Amino acid sequence: MFSVRPLRIWQHVPRRTLSTSARNLPSAAYTSPKQPQDPSILSTPEDITGNQKAALDAALRVDQAGEIAANYIYMGQLAVLGKDRVCGPLITEMWDQEKKHLDVMNKLQLQHRVRPTMLWEVAKVAGFGLGAVTALMGKEAAMACTEAVETVIGEHYDDQLKELDEMKTSHSSIPLLKEVIKEFRDDELEHLDTAVLHHSQRAPAHALLSTVVGAGCKVAIELCKRV
Ligand SMILES: [Fe+2]
Ligand SMILES: [Fe+2]
Repeated sequence: MFSVRPLRIWQHVPRRTLSTSARNLPSAAYTSPKQPQDPSILSTPEDITGNQKAALDAALRVDQAGEIAANYIYMGQLAVLGKDRVCGPLITEMWDQEKKHLDVMNKLQLQHRVRPTMLWEVAKVAGFGLGAVTALMGKEAAMACTEAVETVIGEHYDDQLKELDEMKTSHSSIPLLKEVIKEFRDDELEHLDTAVLHHSQRAPAHALLSTVVGAGCKVAIELCKRV
């Protein structure tokens, strides 16, 4: 048996209809900066230890790679299911958020002078393949893929938040980074809930598919930390 996460239905209310508008989201500091010279979006902390800098580098390298893969997963799903009346718009909406995530991660990678992963091209091909193959297995399998990927990514962002809590610095970029990661973590969990609501758990061999995709994501995370 496998466990089923409780749904957080309220999160399906589109974020922009809630009190927080898109302009007030933490990521807006990067996507539409009100203060383009703000050091929190331009520079990296100099008062952290070598180990902390290495941890920050690894975290941002993985995040950027994960967002590349996520973009290509949705691209692969859309290539197969784009004409589906329900799945097409749903996948497009989730992909739009991933485009923003990647845009922000690209800016963070430059800001903190992080070497991108050498597996950049692999992440694209693997992401597209995973999205397309699961979509070819059917709508439910595509949603099961999303559920498995977003579960791992949500947990991964949560782990990063704990790591960043330990990073003591006077530089304003780290509190902002934490807010951005919280926002993205919530987006990913929203994608997860969307997948479950659209019957991911009815996919054939759901448990096996979840295990394989989830394990693949965890291996990819560990690889991208190092390479
Ligand atoms: Fe994302
Ligand atoms: Fe996502």
